[in-house]
Amino acid sequence: MNKSILVTGGTGFIGSHTCVALSDAGYKVIVLDNLNNSDASVIGRIGQICGREPEFIEGDIRDAGLLDKLFAEHSINAVLHFAGLKAVGESVEKSLLYYENNVSGTINLLRSMQRADVKTMVFSSSATVYGDPASVPITEDFPRSCTNPYGASKLMIEDILADLYRSDPGWHIARLRYFNPVGAHQSGLIGEDPKGVPNNLMPFVSQAAAGLRDELSVFGDDYDTPDGTGIRDYIHVVDLANGHVAALNYLDENPELLSVNLGTGRGVSVLEMIKSFEATNNCKVPYRITGRREGDIAECWADTRLANKLLRWQATHSLEDMCKDAWRWQTNTL
Ligand code: NAD
Ligand code: WQD
Repeated sequence: MNKSILVTGGTGFIGSHTCVALSDAGYKVIVLDNLNNSDASVIGRIGQICGREPEFIEGDIRDAGLLDKLFAEHSINAVLHFAGLKAVGESVEKSLLYYENNVSGTINLLRSMQRADVKTMVFSSSATVYGDPASVPITEDFPRSCTNPYGASKLMIEDILADLYRSDPGWHIARLRYFNPVGAHQSGLIGEDPKGVPNNLMPFVSQAAAGLRDELSVFGDDYDTPDGTGIRDYIHVVDLANGHVAALNYLDENPELLSVNLGTGRGVSVLEMIKSFEATNNCKVPYRITGRREGDIAECWADTRLANKLLRWQATHSLEDMCKDAWRWQTNTL
């Protein structure tokens, strides 16, 4: 196989792991990233893992001229579209930036794909599109809603992709709804590298265990859950990356618009995560129970039957793997 895949946001957390999975599956990988939230050194690290580096183009998905040139110069078969801003709190402060970067950027990319007659896209959607679900597990036909501009940008892009498909059913589109990606590559060479204070649980747990943060604030122990803390579906980033290769294989045979959950189908509470991290890595995670974080929901976990059936994919990494690999990455970056 010598198919070429354009990976926008390919130096980021999920994109970099997916570049490895694509390369392992025999694809030629071209990365486009503006390095807004990542570092170019990731390209060399992907090369170290795979034995060959992806081609790297530093640039922005909002730059139509650059995209047209890129599609003209490379024979691209499909686009995996990770590029986007993802901090929920920041999106409230800088809503226009989020709409411009995520929504306008995606429209710009789709227009360029259309001009180049490249009609396969895998889009990084999110479980955030389910808002506060009425029940768990969540199936793909649950109602969608949002409470912040980041979530709204994902909903809008999902709708834009649906309208595009309606106007031209020759497109092959997967809207992959990720649950909570964590962990890192087993090599310890790539992982999540949040700039500033982490918003997400797992990087905060790692940094607290490493002594880089005084203590983790556990946001509420009064939820209607067995131990009172929030429950999420944490998925190892390598499983998530493999889900993209499975989605590409599926789209190859099926021109359609697909919405699929990528999670493990298992809910884990904040306290369970802390205990597992401590037991797996023989370390201490200093923490304190504080008030709830605004906008948080009690429970969110996936029904993964559609992904199992259509993509023939399922997560294989355990919670222990997630904790072990996150810690290896954390200690390597110290
Ligand atoms: P990340 O920030 O690590 O990666 C995103 C990459 O996109 C970064 O390298 C950044 O520099 C790049 N980028 C941003 N705007 C760009 C632009 N205009 N042009 C070119 N490059 C640009 O984030 P991630 O965790 O790897 O997330 C990847 C995608 O998955 C995002 O779209 C995110 O919204 C989505 N997602 C993430 C999570 C999560 O918890 N990490 C959950 C659900 C969905
Ligand atoms: C997980 C659990 C917190 C930090 C967010 C986005 C979502 C998606 C994934 C992109 C919750 C608790 C957290 C901390 C804590 N991103 N927590 N102390 O909120 O499920 O989802 O990231 O699409 O859109 O909203 O993930 O990792 O922030 O929180 O107690 O310091 O950990 O309350 O129960 P969340 P998270």
